[in-house]
Amino acid sequence: MSERKILVTSALPYANGPIHLGHLVEYIQTDIWVRFQKQRGNQCYFICADDTHGTPIMLKADREGITPEELISKVGIEHLADFTEFNVIFDNYHSTHSEENRVFSSLIYNRLRSAGHINSRTITQAYDPVKLMFLPDRFIKGECPKCGALDQYGDGCEACGATYSPIELKNAVSAISGKKPIEKDSVHYFFNLADFASMLNEWTTEGHLQPEVCNKLAEWLKSGLQQWDISRDAPYFGFEIPDAPGKYFYVWLDAPIGYMASFKNLCDKQGLIFDEFWSEDSTTELYHFIGKDIIYFHALFWPAMLSGANFRLPTAIFAHGFLTVNGEKMSKSRGTFITARTYLNHLNPEYLRYYFAAKLNAGVDDIDLNFDDFSQRVNSDLVGKVVNIGSRCSGFINKRFNNKLSSSCSEPALFQEFINANTQIAEFYDTREYGKAMREIMALADKANQYIDEKKPWLIAKQDNKNSELHDICSVGINLFRLLMAYLKPVTPSLATEAEKFLAIDTQVWPNRATPLIDHTINTFIPLMIRVEADKISAIIDDSKDNLEKTIDISIKGSQMKEPTFEPIANTIEFNDFAKLDLRIAKIIKANHVKDSDKLLQLTVDIGDETRNIFAGIKSAYSPEDLEGKLTLVVANLVPRKMRFGTSEGMVLAAGPGDKNIWILSPDQGAVAGMRVK
Ligand code: 2FM
Ligand code: ZN
Repeated sequence: MSERKILVTSALPYANGPIHLGHLVEYIQTDIWVRFQKQRGNQCYFICADDTHGTPIMLKADREGITPEELISKVGIEHLADFTEFNVIFDNYHSTHSEENRVFSSLIYNRLRSAGHINSRTITQAYDPVKLMFLPDRFIKGECPKCGALDQYGDGCEACGATYSPIELKNAVSAISGKKPIEKDSVHYFFNLADFASMLNEWTTEGHLQPEVCNKLAEWLKSGLQQWDISRDAPYFGFEIPDAPGKYFYVWLDAPIGYMASFKNLCDKQGLIFDEFWSEDSTTELYHFIGKDIIYFHALFWPAMLSGANFRLPTAIFAHGFLTVNGEKMSKSRGTFITARTYLNHLNPEYLRYYFAAKLNAGVDDIDLNFDDFSQRVNSDLVGKVVNIGSRCSGFINKRFNNKLSSSCSEPALFQEFINANTQIAEFYDTREYGKAMREIMALADKANQYIDEKKPWLIAKQDNKNSELHDICSVGINLFRLLMAYLKPVTPSLATEAEKFLAIDTQVWPNRATPLIDHTINTFIPLMIRVEADKISAIIDDSKDNLEKTIDISIKGSQMKEPTFEPIANTIEFNDFAKLDLRIAKIIKANHVKDSDKLLQLTVDIGDETRNIFAGIKSAYSPEDLEGKLTLVVANLVPRKMRFGTSEGMVLAAGPGDKNIWILSPDQGAVAGMRVK
């Protein structure tokens, strides 16, 4: 089969916050697919970039007292470091704030305009009279016009689910300045999506999309295509529209064009031919991996833009579901909003790569990271089944045969069975059925272990005349281990590389034509992977709770296929929110150490009408005996939180930078347990 030429993208992460485990589902999914294609010998390029434009990034930079350019450069470095340490390796990682992207955005806009697909008209929008800027819907808050719920965003009510325009909100305020927005007119530019209705009706049913996505699009197409507002007024961090001073391309106009820009940047570095991958008559393949929340942009706007500007259309769009942790939406207060960095501080990234692979399929269903299941699968599959084969067999090869494998393969049929499995495993990888691929590989690992169990090399080793049998058995085991590592290489590339070093072999290609290693000298085995340690998982969760700072996070995904939503900056809270807190003076009756926790103390506190069990992360600053009898302040109406050590029924308030410098809050004399903060 001739080599395929493939260009692959993952969605571009916003440059205003850290990469978290939710993002990593997609980057790991894509990276596995790209590594697989490369291992098969295909010419495959994996392109990405930071998505750097838009209001949230502009405001975040403003808040941090730096320029947007400084912010995106800092965040870009952090993102790339996170990806690299997770072994997500791009052929090019660029930025949408690049010259290439400015050129392509202008080119596409000019072509669309010349072909009559752009028009302009005046619209009225909410405007912040203090910040002197138009307010995106998510930056306006007020009372729901339908149910009256307080503190709802301008685009929809989280209490009753109603959607509306921000003008309908009652008592609306700007989430940036807190002031009442005024209405202001301005000219906006629109892309006439309806011009592409018949093209999209065809393209979306021609097999470029997953069936469930296709159905969703059919609904959208049926309800009619609206004009898409592609301009924003200054101040805005982005590209100025060539023929419209003071107007900027909306971030979602230039974001997908960033795919082209990043590839162009690679072409210039490596002498590749850009047109081979992007011209209208291209015969190469183009795939976009995305989350299901941004289907609208990728399966409607993007193909329409490409078609209107005479570029090729994507070969396919692969959407995936969201990540839940322990069955729930990631949550900062539960400690399950885990950043890539926090994870990397404690655990091997390849555990997560394997776990995600084991759970991923070609559909758009959400996947759950359950930490018990995670430990169990990694420990039993990767460590217990696969790595164990290498360790079981290499000891004898080392001690009894000077690290040399035997001079023939005593189990050619078994070896061949492992080779034959390559077709099915490849099919599963290619169709993104990674869970099935992992099950197939683990079934082979079971077979290899069964073979060793049946042959019992540890007993044979005790019999003087069975040296060559022992040699053969262990050599077969090592050869099977080698094939398993070749199959797992897209998922656990570091483990595979370490295994290649141990086996003293070159980087493994896809093993459809592999022959056994004969008379081959390997290296002495060193443990390739350790088991997941439970305390590392609790440390990740504890560390993730530490940073409860409210950040603008426009990349936390919702649960429906819809336009991305924007969380406003919220340095202030409404009085009603504050009033929800049940803050009480509490007396610490008892304090104990918590077994296996280096951060927590277990406190029994009297809050007036009852006693509560509370775990507090203050061990670094207090001994239990310092605390007993003291009065402090607790939040008494927090939803009880199940922890590894028991249930925590409230929160003790403490302040300070951490370590020894943490102080619990104590009232002045005269206060007694049970008094409420008023
Ligand atoms: O949803 C997001 O996180 C966007 N930053 C994805 C952009 S993908 C592409 F279009 F650039
Ligand atoms: Zn409502």
